[in-house]
Amino acid sequence: MNRSLISFRMKLIMIMLLAISIPVLTTGYFMIDKAEKALLKEKEKKLSSIAKQLDYMLKGTFDNYLDSTGNTMTRAEKISHLNSRLGPLTDMVAADNAGVGVGYYYSDLDAVITYGPSSELGDKIGLSISETHPGRRVLQNGKPLVFTGKQVRGDIMNAMVPLMREHRIIGYVWANELTSDVVAQMRKMERNILLILAVGMLAGMAIALQMANALGGSIDKIIRSIDRIGNDLSYRLPASKGVLGKIPIAINGLMNRLVETKTHTEAMEEQIRRVDRLKALGELAAGMAHEIRNPLTSIKAFSQIAEESMEEGDPNLEYIGIIVKEVERMNGLVEQLLLFGRPSIKKEVEVNVPDLINRSLLLVEYDLRKKGLKVIKQLENIKMFADHNLIQQIIINLLLNAIQAANQGGTLEIRTFAAGNRLGMSFFNTGSYIDNDQKEMIFDPFFTSKEKGMGLGLSVTQNIVHLYNGTICFENVDTGVKFQVEFPGKEIANDESSSSR
Ligand SMILES: Nc1ncnc2c1ncn2[C@@H]1O[C@H](COP(=O)(O)OP(=O)(O)OP(=O)(O)O)[C@@H](O)[C@H]1O
Ligand SMILES: [Mg+2]
Repeated sequence: MNRSLISFRMKLIMIMLLAISIPVLTTGYFMIDKAEKALLKEKEKKLSSIAKQLDYMLKGTFDNYLDSTGNTMTRAEKISHLNSRLGPLTDMVAADNAGVGVGYYYSDLDAVITYGPSSELGDKIGLSISETHPGRRVLQNGKPLVFTGKQVRGDIMNAMVPLMREHRIIGYVWANELTSDVVAQMRKMERNILLILAVGMLAGMAIALQMANALGGSIDKIIRSIDRIGNDLSYRLPASKGVLGKIPIAINGLMNRLVETKTHTEAMEEQIRRVDRLKALGELAAGMAHEIRNPLTSIKAFSQIAEESMEEGDPNLEYIGIIVKEVERMNGLVEQLLLFGRPSIKKEVEVNVPDLINRSLLLVEYDLRKKGLKVIKQLENIKMFADHNLIQQIIINLLLNAIQAANQGGTLEIRTFAAGNRLGMSFFNTGSYIDNDQKEMIFDPFFTSKEKGMGLGLSVTQNIVHLYNGTICFENVDTGVKFQVEFPGKEIANDESSSSR
């Protein structure tokens, strides 16, 4: 497998993973940070409101809880007395808020009056706070304070609220929680957030991986297919699903057009090569024909002189006759060669095509009869301005081919027609068929399938047709072959059209 393919798929996967994990992790970090701060704020609020509850529960001043004998009590007796009155209140509040420690501090006695839950924290009763204790600050400036750190209970978050009575600070109340408890709650919350993020990220990654894999796989497939086209132009990309499906369709369309153009170009090149070959051959043939014609004329003339000077019954007379006949045959061949080389227009007249066909049929009468062919004519009256001899050459060549190819007792069908601004003629014979592998060659000079053929008839015919900007084509029709010639030209008149069967 190509290395670039692996890296493409891997790159895609890595990009997708980064695209998912970076935002998720950043969001996670900020979420946890925000959530922790919110939790602490919430804790502070809760502790402050519990402390305020204690403030509210203390009716009047501490003195209200000491009866008239209070004046005679020692500090310790006062603390104990106040504790017995206020202890149940703090215990009640502590019981309502599990894990929270609450209590009263009385400035005049500089002592912790209550500390609930008393079962746990009762031993702190009567203690004074140190000089550096943050409670001192609350007593001094009369402002609530939340302080986190080491205090009487241990490492705590402590919300302290001053007890203001008639513009005097008589002490303060507090509500606190162990820092370890707060941290534990925060950890629990972090764990939940991380869990949700991890599940989300895994799901996102799974989807991204699957997408990257599918997309990368499809692109790999397309790239591999394109590589394959490099070696085999006939190969077409298999269909793909989704958005990528358009790529193979577009590439296949492009390839089809490319192959079409290539085939067309090759055919044109072959045509050009063929025309070049024919031109060279034609020039050679015309040159040779010209050279041969003069001596032939002399041979024929001298033979006729010799024939005349011979006595009747001379055994050589027969040979002379053969010489003359053969010379005439060679002359015919030379004519064909000249036509093949450069058919030239000598004299142009209005040619009545049906007439010319009828006269040509007389010339091949003997061959027609020998084959016993039935001739069907459908001749529209068409006329063209052309060299009479050249058009006759076309007719005779196609007639002879049709007669030679037809089956004994078969049919020969000749038509002339005008359609739009084209006019033409066709020759159909039964009993023959042109093989696919011969289709390309029958117009080639010297291509023949006949024992005595020269293979010049069709190439000469084609040259003349082209001279008049016409086309010649053939097709295998039903039981035979039809040759058709068309020229640019106008229909002359239909009224004289003749038809015979
Ligand atoms: N009507 C037809 N039916 C079947 N095959 C044909 C027909 N006309 C031509 N051909 C084929 O095309 C070949 C070439 O024809 P072309 O007229 O050029 O040469 P030819 O007839 O063989 O020889 P020439 O015309 O020089 O005497 C023929 O030999 C024959 O195989
Ligand atoms: Mg022929």
